[in-house]
Amino acid sequence: MNLKDALYTRRAVRDFTDAAIDDAAIRQLIDAAIQAPSAMNEQPWSFVVVRDKALLDRISAEAKAQMLRTTPAGLLSHHFQETLGNPKFHIFYHAPVLVVIAAKNDGPWGTIDCALAAQNLMLAARDASLGTCWIGFAQGWLATAEGKAALGLPPGYVPVAPIIVGHPKVAPPPVARKEPEIYWK
Ligand SMILES: Cc1cc2nc3c(=O)[nH]c(=O)nc-3n(C[C@H](O)[C@H](O)[C@H](O)COP(=O)(O)O)c2cc1C
Repeated sequence: MNLKDALYTRRAVRDFTDAAIDDAAIRQLIDAAIQAPSAMNEQPWSFVVVRDKALLDRISAEAKAQMLRTTPAGLLSHHFQETLGNPKFHIFYHAPVLVVIAAKNDGPWGTIDCALAAQNLMLAARDASLGTCWIGFAQGWLATAEGKAALGLPPGYVPVAPIIVGHPKVAPPPVARKEPEIYWK
């Protein structure tokens, strides 16, 4: 697949088949991720590959509970309150794999560098006919001491991009883009 096709057809995928993904395929996605540019070439990223279903279920439950507990009532819409309170809602949509890209320090560029690596990973997945979705819902709890311990990350690391990976059940339809605001000078 050429780059333009990958860019224009990558979608957030939230419905996966039961098919597993082998470690070599994940390794290829990580190799693509680390081709991203990084400030001062620090390459400050690390990758946690979670395939353990019990751990995925635990992170989903902890993250939902934490968001309900900590988000100020005014900021949580009725829809989100209902979604997060629904025991059947799994924030990872039962994807077989979660890759968490974490910055090795909380310096000014780590988050940006990891986000660039994340986009590379998502585009490489599209090229490999795999589906991905960045799961921001997981970020709050993963950033806690308990969350980092669950991932086996040192306390100084910063989880930036939790990305689920799986075989898409269906190709999601295109998602419209707003007209970009552009200031020509
Ligand atoms: C930082 C970030 C956080 C996101 N968090 C979630 C999430 O928690 N759950 C979810 O289903 N999708 C999440 N998404 C996916 C977006 O909803 C999706 O990218 C957006 O609707 C545009 O659709 P597209 O990716 O198919 O173009 C997130 C995307 C980004 C970039």
